[in-house]
Amino acid sequence: MFKVLKHYYSRIKEGRLEEFISQWLWMGSYIKRYWFLIAIYTFLGASGSALGLGTSMVSRNLIDAVTGQNSDNIVSVACLYVGVGVSMLFINAFKTRLSLKISLKVNNEIRSDIFSQILSTDWESLSKYRTGDLMYRINGDTMSVSNAVLTYIPNIVSVFITFGGAFVVMLQNDAIMAFIALAGAPISFISTRFSMRKMREYQRKQLELQSNKTTFNQETLQNMQMIKAFGLVDYFISEYKAVQEQSVEFAMTQNKFQSRMTVFTGFVGQLIGYACYGYAVYRLWQGSVSYGTMTLFVSMSSSLRGSFSSVLNLLPTAMRASLSAGRIMEITSLPRESIEDEEKGKTMLKEAVKTGITVELQDVSFAYGKNPPVFTKANLRAGSGEIVGLIGPSGEGKTTTLRILLGLYHCAAGRAIVSNPTVGSMSLSSGTRCLFSYIPQGNTLFSGTIAENMRMLKPDATKEEIIEVLKVADAYRFIESLDKGIDTDVFEGGNRFSEGQKQRLSIARALLHNAPILLLDEATSALDMATEKRVLKNILSYRPLQTIIVTAHRPSVLSMCDRVYKIQSGHIEEVNEEQIQTFLEEG
Ligand SMILES: Nc1ncnc2c1ncn2[C@@H]1O[C@H](COP(=O)(O)OP(=O)(O)OP(=O)(O)O)[C@@H](O)[C@H]1O
Ligand SMILES: [Mg+2]
Repeated sequence: MFKVLKHYYSRIKEGRLEEFISQWLWMGSYIKRYWFLIAIYTFLGASGSALGLGTSMVSRNLIDAVTGQNSDNIVSVACLYVGVGVSMLFINAFKTRLSLKISLKVNNEIRSDIFSQILSTDWESLSKYRTGDLMYRINGDTMSVSNAVLTYIPNIVSVFITFGGAFVVMLQNDAIMAFIALAGAPISFISTRFSMRKMREYQRKQLELQSNKTTFNQETLQNMQMIKAFGLVDYFISEYKAVQEQSVEFAMTQNKFQSRMTVFTGFVGQLIGYACYGYAVYRLWQGSVSYGTMTLFVSMSSSLRGSFSSVLNLLPTAMRASLSAGRIMEITSLPRESIEDEEKGKTMLKEAVKTGITVELQDVSFAYGKNPPVFTKANLRAGSGEIVGLIGPSGEGKTTTLRILLGLYHCAAGRAIVSNPTVGSMSLSSGTRCLFSYIPQGNTLFSGTIAENMRMLKPDATKEEIIEVLKVADAYRFIESLDKGIDTDVFEGGNRFSEGQKQRLSIARALLHNAPILLLDEATSALDMATEKRVLKNILSYRPLQTIIVTAHRPSVLSMCDRVYKIQSGHIEEVNEEQIQTFLEEG
């Protein structure tokens, strides 16, 4: 006894109980939100259980009527029997339909809630998770949470009605019988208590495996071109099989453990069942109960045992749901992007139309986590109507600088600000992101048509507006020649188009955003030099107040810049034409 108490005490000290409670409180907030639907579901479940009990009792009366013990009201009992059966049929059909509707609604709402929470999470914290893992948390874990939210309370109520009802009916008829039926309870309880810890570990491992599987599938499908190009098809097929085998092996180990538990509790259940049956037959042989009462005994004892094991099953179900809730809470409790500066950012955006925006880094230091700093005491300035170039060897911090400007990463020291003569200055954050248009390295087109991709940034953009920005980005020439024009499908990742064409489409889309600062991360690298120069010139004459920061390696772009900064060995310094030349020649 002391040992058991000590065990629980150590668990509480480890914070397990607190964790479990906080996970259920979190799920409780959803239960509270859908209390009405859950109450209807509970009522239907409870009425099903009550009718189940009623059926057993009516069937006792029917048997007694048929065997001549109480044949006066045979017709009314038969009608009642049929009535209860038919009602159950309707209640079950209605319950199935309603539960489908409720579960779809609750599932979707919880999912979209979590999805939107994930999207508004601080990017720096979120980027530590693999996409496949996040996908499984959004889909798999949310599913088990929403099922628990919807069914847990109704299940408890149904199980207790069946359990309590059967126990009371048996007590009224024969107390000894009730206690025989319950004899297996302590054994089942102890075995469940011992299996819980192991089950928790299995569950946790299984969720991890599912996340890994989703990640593997997602990454494989995303990199099909590379897989085919390198002749890795067989390798990936065998990896896929290995991942499958791993989960089969794990499922079998888990099943082995579960089967042992099931066989054990099943065996205890069988023994109790035989004892009940034997006792009921003995009472019938004694003549102290009727046929009907004997069958009632048998059916009640089995529903008592059944509901008892359902009570015990509530525990692992709660554990599974709490594990999934914990995995979701891990993501949703990551720091959120602050929305404090959003209003000020929007005011600055309005003012920018008249006066433009200046963006500055003042003595900024930055490091990814505990890694060595990417740069220290860095200074950079880009004013309205300027093109500022960033050069530097690969991996020295050009993209990182743009991420800091976008408020995706936060500097450890120094100030990163935007300013405007009328609004003043503001530290860079998610609130100032509306001032930027960003074209990252790599491809950012979504499946859909060209127009749909464009309207992602301005839903009400007219056809003329779209064509205008496509012309500025020097993209309209190739779109014009397509049968469907701007309604041409770009395919997933924009694969319908060449790299240079994709880059021009991305630039056009960014221009539609109408932000005062444009960040181009090697966004013109796939264009020939003449087109590259033309596009940048077009942008400047289209938006004279635009502040442009461009990372580039080519003299064609750098020759257009008002200022160029070199990022190297942890420093950012402004460089003159001669230094640019030396860098380009050496690089
Ligand atoms: N999420 C991250 N976590 C840890 N380190 C990172 C992360 N992203 C980038 N780095 C590291 O920071 C350094 C700067 O990377 P960055 O992408 O800014 O380089 P870059 O100058 O843009 O290079 P390139 O010209 O190749 O695009 C690199 O050493 C890179 O490995
Ligand atoms: Mg880069």
